[in-house]
Amino acid sequence: MVQNKAFIYKAVPDGWPVPGKNLSVEDISFDESAEPPKGGFTTKNFYASYDPAQRGRMRDPSIKSYSPAMEPGKPVVAVTVIGEVLKSDTSKFKAGDTVSMMSHYTESYSAVDESEVERTQVIHPKQGVPLTAYLGALGMTGMTAYGSLHEIGQPKKGDVILISAAAGAVGQMVGQIAVREGLHVIGSVGDDKKLDFITKELGFTSGFNYKTEKMADAVKRLAPDGLDIYYDNVGGELLDVALTNMKDFGKIIACGAISTYNNGSDSTPYGIKNYAAVVRKRLRYQGFIVIDQNIRQWQKERDENVSKWIADGSLKSIDHITNGMDNAVDGFLGMLKGENLGKSILKIADP
Ligand SMILES: NC(=O)c1ccc[n+]([C@@H]2O[C@H](COP(=O)([O-])OP(=O)(O)OC[C@H]3O[C@@H](n4cnc5c(N)ncnc54)[C@H](OP(=O)(O)O)[C@@H]3O)[C@@H](O)[C@H]2O)c1
Repeated sequence: MVQNKAFIYKAVPDGWPVPGKNLSVEDISFDESAEPPKGGFTTKNFYASYDPAQRGRMRDPSIKSYSPAMEPGKPVVAVTVIGEVLKSDTSKFKAGDTVSMMSHYTESYSAVDESEVERTQVIHPKQGVPLTAYLGALGMTGMTAYGSLHEIGQPKKGDVILISAAAGAVGQMVGQIAVREGLHVIGSVGDDKKLDFITKELGFTSGFNYKTEKMADAVKRLAPDGLDIYYDNVGGELLDVALTNMKDFGKIIACGAISTYNNGSDSTPYGIKNYAAVVRKRLRYQGFIVIDQNIRQWQKERDENVSKWIADGSLKSIDHITNGMDNAVDGFLGMLKGENLGKSILKIADP
């Protein structure tokens, strides 16, 4: 038996998850000498992605959603875990393969059941593309950004786009793609270091810090003629401000609402005041989930373009790494609080 530290989901949080009560790190042990499950395989894991959607799965299981609630007492389910196959009982993988496992436990070692084989892929990293890009720009995050921007936003050169949580995993991708496509790109971020990052390193046209400037003033200042597209990662007040600043026939890409994810049973959600703008301005306001067919149909194009752009250095895939399973709880909460610059990733072990 070896130690198998795992990021454990202990109980449904009410509001912000509390370390020790809702989340912890525990040893669940692993038998290295054991044969893999029938039709499955075993792995040593290197990286797990952190995603705000994980917070949505930490809920009362009676509340239905597009993905099942996590099970208390089990490891936290990550959108993607990257590891190396140790032993295999399936012809799809052999020992030594680097694999990307979707909807997989955040743990140091895994005995992977046959039922997970279908959602596991071998990764063959391209020259110049880091392994962690398969959790971000070339993973679910990048698919979200690339697919939804094109499918729902239908961007045209010269369009004015506002992106919230612009220095985060999805935001940094949407922004860089929009810059490449000749849009006027404005980002909203929660600190000045992030503002420098999006404008100086990612080439955004401009941006603002929503914690130090009134959102309504900032959007008016930076987009005096209005917005063609609002890429919404946060919901709440900025969505309201965007509604009042949209141009006629503008498009709102409803990607996420992170400003609400840690609302507890005693909090009053922000109430949108400017809803009537959707009708008056004939807006197209569309939500999506990355697994939807209309988003996934962009995958081949995303894979080709994004790997080429990372390899030639024209697209930055910035990671925010939390080192070691012992720090797994802090890394997760840090992402929800906005401590990350780029894609949040837990490094479990050296590849
Ligand atoms: N629809 C889909 O299929 C899909 C797929 C992936 C992600 N998403 C959504 O996309 C959004 C971004 O995800 P991500 O993975 O790229 O995360 P991320 O942006 O890397 O990290 C979350 C960021 O949200 C910001 N934030 C936290 N609390 C906030 C608040 N109260 N108001 C405004 N901003 C706040 C923080 O940045 P600041 O410091 O700038 O506040 C933080 O860094 C999330 O809403 C997520 O649920 C949706």
